[in-house]
Amino acid sequence: MTSGGDSPGMNGVVRAVVRMAIHMGCDAFAVYEGYEGLVRGGDLIKKMDWDDVRGWLSEGGTLIGTARCMAFYERPGRLTAAKNMVLNGIDALIICGGDGSLTGADKFRSEWPSLLDELVAKGELSKDQTTPYKHLNIVGIVGSIDNDLSGTDATVGCYSALSRICEMVDYIEATASSHSRAFVIEVMGRHCGWLALLAGVATGADFVFIPERPQEHDWRTDMSLVVNRHRKLGKRKTIVIVAEGARDKDGNKISPEEIKDLLSDKTEGGLGLDTRITTLGHVQRGGTAVAYDRLLSTLQGVEAVKAVLEATPETETCFIAINENKIVRKPLMKAVQETQEVAKAVDSKDFEKAMSLRDAEFAD
Ligand code: F6P
Repeated sequence: MTSGGDSPGMNGVVRAVVRMAIHMGCDAFAVYEGYEGLVRGGDLIKKMDWDDVRGWLSEGGTLIGTARCMAFYERPGRLTAAKNMVLNGIDALIICGGDGSLTGADKFRSEWPSLLDELVAKGELSKDQTTPYKHLNIVGIVGSIDNDLSGTDATVGCYSALSRICEMVDYIEATASSHSRAFVIEVMGRHCGWLALLAGVATGADFVFIPERPQEHDWRTDMSLVVNRHRKLGKRKTIVIVAEGARDKDGNKISPEEIKDLLSDKTEGGLGLDTRITTLGHVQRGGTAVAYDRLLSTLQGVEAVKAVLEATPETETCFIAINENKIVRKPLMKAVQETQEVAKAVDSKDFEKAMSLRDAEFAD
């Protein structure tokens, strides 16, 4: 199942999971439309053959769909989902999604025995039907372009999005240079500045704004000094990359318009640059998966199947991470909690904490 925002590489995960499961002698099912498919059942839960996922490795988006599902937030929705799984003969679930989707999965797993008991008590399933499905094994794979989950060096899709951003910035640079213009380029990342920061490094941008680490001083002074210096050195173009969740040191959101106003300020002492704003938007999220995401999705999909097959009722719910180029299993909820702490720290303007949590992630 894929859930949450799509990311390039999700189809590679589905392909790897389906084929590895078949290879291991299992029946593989695809749940279409995320949790919505589990709740609605019917033709949204489809048995997959080897050939069904042919050509999926490079495809962008998610071919099995993803949707917001309010019903799954409520116990009756999860009850129906459990019933649909048992009726389809499904006893393990691999979910590729962001931290929210994976948290939902962990809750589902912890409730599973009581859901089955309730289905029997209500007469919706018999004891004989539920007995073989006593335990639900769940494994997560993180699909997100933001690279925002703690505990893994990369999430499925982040390098495709980063490559797309770099390609777009290259295009913009050609026109910026021609007219000696400045461009403010907004990239995705509500709580996580990974895309903005790495795109800044990879394109040699003049200035970068991210949510976790606002400039120490007034950003207007800092940016003007840098841009001015670069212009004096003879640069014909100015590129400023801003994450959509960028903040100033007081925690206020910094908008591309504010940055543009400063760059184009024609009053005395102002930079006076002819400035344009480009919001890259969803081109960052769609499109084919780069080689890294094809590899990551394949290796993690294979490992996820091994992990669900080896899991016992005592095993903590895990997700598949990549650390120092090794595919590893890690406790899911610890990573989710750490991720949410960074977002909370940014929201509550505790940037020191946000940065120390990010540092700890990298030290990990
Ligand atoms: O996938 C995460 C993300 O890319 C965020 O960076 C961005 O804010 C969000 O998705 C936008 O997604 P949507 O348009 O689906 O709400």
